[in-house]
Amino acid sequence: MNTAKKRTCILISGRGSNMQALVAAARAPAFPAEIALIASNRPEAAGLTWAKEQGLRTLVLDHKAFANCEDFEARLQDALEASRIELIALAGFMRLMTPVFVERWRDRMINIHPSLLPSFRGLHTHERALAEGVKITGCTVHFVRAEVDSGPIIAQAAVPVLSGDTPETLSARVLAAEHRLYPFALSLVASGRAADTNESVTTARLNAKSALFVPDPEKGP
Ligand code: GRF
Repeated sequence: MNTAKKRTCILISGRGSNMQALVAAARAPAFPAEIALIASNRPEAAGLTWAKEQGLRTLVLDHKAFANCEDFEARLQDALEASRIELIALAGFMRLMTPVFVERWRDRMINIHPSLLPSFRGLHTHERALAEGVKITGCTVHFVRAEVDSGPIIAQAAVPVLSGDTPETLSARVLAAEHRLYPFALSLVASGRAADTNESVTTARLNAKSALFVPDPEKGP
């Protein structure tokens, strides 16, 4: 059995709380991935400061300094190869990758999105979930495909929408779930337990009792 940890790059653009969750999880000796590089397309990303303080290897690739996406990605690819990166985890990375880059990293690049995909692709997920009146929302980790927020789903967490929720309170509840889900999903991928077979990932071993009811029929509204 190959027990080598998968060398992983986390790509961020901002705060980096999911990055922090992945870094914390990867410190466990048995975790199957190691965080070998943190890269940001924004020099001012708060997550970069934290990563540097932790002594992690960081890289700034300011996309505004490149003539086009291809040049940006070519430089990123060089850095990934130089660090012998095997997996990419997008964590609040706000750039769309070209189909060429996505194909090169097919089934080796994952993303976290703050909704139960395929609902609410794109931005402002919590505002839109509240506007639609959904009672359950959540977050999704998926393999990246060229179309935005699409690709085989690896894992999801369902989160209740509570009366009186604002985008901020809902976002905080979903984010707490993200921080639990993303490390778990990365461990599944890095250990080969979430291989993508025919655009569908099979991992769940649950029964009907696992359903989340909102409101709960046993407790009432
Ligand atoms: C998270 O909600 C993530 O799902 C989305 O962007 C946000 C990033 O937050 N893709 P953070 O930078 O990880 O704190």
